[in-house]
Amino acid sequence: MFRLPTLASLFLLVLEAAHASPCIAFDANFNLLVFGLDGKDWNAGTQDTWPSGSAKDITTSGRPPFDGSNTTCYLSQFYNAVYVMNGDASQPSAVHIYNPASSSWSTQPVTTAGFNPANFDAILDHDTNVFYALSNGEMYFLDMGSLTAANSSGLTWNDVGKPSFSTDNYKPVMALAQNHIHFLDVPNVPAGSAQIFVIHFSYFQPDAQAYSGATFPAAHGQATSFFQESGVQQEFAFIPDDGSATYVINVETNTTTSFPGPSIKDAAATYFAGITSLVQLASDGTVSYLPYKQGDTQTNQAAAWGKVTSIASAAPPSSHNSTSSASGSASATKSSAGAKASSGASTNSDQSSDARVSREARIAAIAATALAALGFALL
Ligand SMILES: *[C@@H]1O[C@H](CO)[C@@H](O)[C@H](O)[C@H]1NC(C)=O
Ligand SMILES: *[C@@H]1O[C@H](CO)[C@@H](O)[C@H](O)[C@H]1NC(C)=O
Ligand SMILES: *[C@@H]1O[C@H](CO)[C@@H](O)[C@H](O)[C@H]1NC(C)=O
Ligand SMILES: *[C@@H]1O[C@H](CO)[C@@H](O)[C@H](O)[C@H]1NC(C)=O
Repeated sequence: MFRLPTLASLFLLVLEAAHASPCIAFDANFNLLVFGLDGKDWNAGTQDTWPSGSAKDITTSGRPPFDGSNTTCYLSQFYNAVYVMNGDASQPSAVHIYNPASSSWSTQPVTTAGFNPANFDAILDHDTNVFYALSNGEMYFLDMGSLTAANSSGLTWNDVGKPSFSTDNYKPVMALAQNHIHFLDVPNVPAGSAQIFVIHFSYFQPDAQAYSGATFPAAHGQATSFFQESGVQQEFAFIPDDGSATYVINVETNTTTSFPGPSIKDAAATYFAGITSLVQLASDGTVSYLPYKQGDTQTNQAAAWGKVTSIASAAPPSSHNSTSSASGSASATKSSAGAKASSGASTNSDQSSDARVSREARIAAIAATALAALGFALL
C-alpha cells in the first residue's frame, strides 16, 4: 500500500539530488559569497583577494541545506541581506535570509498564493526591496520590507497580472535596471530588443525597447545586474546559454556592448554581478569572473575571464559532470554497492580532496538506495 509513495518520493529525491545547486551572491560590501559548494558556504572576500589565498568557511547553523533545484540568491544592497530561494527541497516556498553582518540565518515562511517555486524567474527590485517574478505566465510580487531576518508574521506572494506579451513557451529571462524589468528572449521580439515592465507604475511598456551597438541574440540565457556604489542599477549582463559572448546592456544610453563569453560554456551556469565584476558559477563548481567597470573602456578592453582561485583551493571543482540527472542515475546503475561505501567515507572527512567526489557520491548513494527500494518493492 505505501510502497508506491515511498518509491515515488525516493525517485524524486534522486532527481533533486542530481539537480542540487549551490549559488553565488555578493554582500553589500561586495565580498563574494558561495553557498552550498561541497556542502559548505564560503566567503571569498573582495575582488582583489580572488587570485590568491583561500576562501573562508562561513558554514554555520540555521542555513538551508542547499539541496534544492535551481537555487537562486539575491542581494538586498540597502539592508545588506542575502535572500535564497529553493535552498531547501523540503520547503520550496521558503525564503532563507542570510545576514552577513551577524553571519546568521533565518527561514522566512512564504505563502505562494499561485506563485510556483518550481517554475519562475525573479528579480529583487533595488529601491523597494520587492521581488518580482514571472511564474507560469503570471507576474507576482513579494515585499521583503527591510528584512535582514525572518518576520514571524509570514509573507505572501501577490498576483500582479499577466504580461502584455504572450508567454506561450516562454522561459523567462529577466534583468533589472533603473527600476525597470527587462524581459529578454520574448517570443516575436527581435534580437537586440527587450520588453519592459516599469515597477513604480506597475506598467508594461507597449512596445519593445531596441538597443543599438552589439545585437544580443533572441535566445534563452542568464541575466544579472551590475550594482553601483549606491543607487539603482544602470546596466545588466546577458549571457546566452551557448556562452558565445557576454553582452552588457546600458539602459541610460540604450546601447549594448559585447565582451568575450565565459571560458566555461555551460547552459546550467549561474551568474552574479558586483560593481566591478561579473561572476560565473559553473555546474561543476568552478567560479570564474570577468573584470568589468561601467564607463571604464581601458579596464573593459583589457578584461579576460579568470578563475576565482581562492574558491578553487578551498572547494575544488568536480572533475565530472554532476548536474544532469542522466549522469547521476547512470553512475548509480553501474556501481550501486560501491557508491554507498564512498559516500560513507566522504561524510567522515572534511578534506578538500574528498569534497571533490562528495557531490557525485551523494547522488550515487541516494540513487542506490532508490534502486534497492525498487528491488524490494518488486518482490
Ligand atoms: C529547474 O529548472 C529546470 C530548467 O529550467 C526546469 O526544467 C525544472 O523544472 C526546474 N525544477 C525545479 C524543481 O524547480
Ligand atoms: C513584519 O512584521 C510586522 C509586525 O507583525 C509587520 O508590521 C510587517 O508588515 C511585517 N512584514 C515585513 C515585510 O516587514
Ligand atoms: C531608453 O529606454 C527607456 C525604456 O524604453 C526609455 O524610457 C528612455 O527614454 C530611453 N533613453 C534613450 C536615451 O533613448
Ligand atoms: C560534460 O557534459 C557535456 C555535455 O554532455 C560534455 O560536452 C562535456 O565534455 C562533459 N565534461 C566533462 C568534464 O566530462
